[in-house]
Amino acid sequence: MLEDKELFDNAAPSYDLTFTNSHIGRRQRDRVYFWLSKIDFFNRTKSIFEINCGTGADANYFHEKGLKVTATDRSGKMIEEAKAKRNKGIHFYQLDFSKLAEQTINADALFSNFGGLNCASGEELKAIATTVSEKQKKGDLIVWVIMPRFCFMEGLYLISRFKFGQLFRRNTTKGVAVNVDGTAVETFYHSPRFVKRILKNSYHIEKVKPVAFFLPPSYLEGFFKNKLPLLNFLNRLEKLAGRLSFLSGWSDHYIIIGEKK
Ligand SMILES: C[S@@+](CC[C@H](N)C(=O)[O-])C[C@H]1O[C@@H](n2cnc3c(N)ncnc32)[C@H](O)[C@@H]1O
Repeated sequence: MLEDKELFDNAAPSYDLTFTNSHIGRRQRDRVYFWLSKIDFFNRTKSIFEINCGTGADANYFHEKGLKVTATDRSGKMIEEAKAKRNKGIHFYQLDFSKLAEQTINADALFSNFGGLNCASGEELKAIATTVSEKQKKGDLIVWVIMPRFCFMEGLYLISRFKFGQLFRRNTTKGVAVNVDGTAVETFYHSPRFVKRILKNSYHIEKVKPVAFFLPPSYLEGFFKNKLPLLNFLNRLEKLAGRLSFLSGWSDHYIIIGEKK
């Protein structure tokens, strides 16, 4: 894993502007909440442990829904932003998810949103899955939102720009340098099939669903912010046709939900 702590520290002050509160970011996050509602999440869960929480937008949402929330991130600046902006009843602290083995996970669900786990290589992700499964009890949930190895909307964008050489840029097990606020962050794309494989011995996989098949990646906010009718049309398509599980591997992100056996 690259020493990327400072990279996300740099992104922290502007993260809510560039992603959380962006037109695309809000619509993508709503899709995550939609899929949580589909598994009756808030009637099954009383407490949640979040890794790579960023500025704590989801932590706040869960707190408002009545859950006891512990939310962690490796970036000290992200945690500072979260503590300053979110409800004081949430327990935020700095934690690298590769150190989960040393933690007590006192919660019925372990949550990771929007590609935090894409900072872990395949081998690192396997180790995290093993650690978490050893700490969870039967019936506990994991909810992970991960970037797969191809994104249809990104593909359309790259073709429209004649950037054919980048079309399959995600499709590798090696780390890919991704620009986060001007700095390269090593990113590993994980297919739904791979993640299912590493979870299936310890978890019943309840859902694998696309999060943003028709909705574009957030780096296209500049293009879409003056074309909200188009973005809303894509959002409607997302709600109608973006439910098909097989699209998960072709979306900007996908959500995978497992229940501990
Ligand atoms: C794209 S942001 C997602 C933030 C948040 N989950 C959200 O939904 O907006 C990725 C986050 O992963 C965090 N991260 C990256 N590597 C990490 C690690 N090894 N341990 C914990 N957090 C990590 C970064 O600091 C950053 O806040």
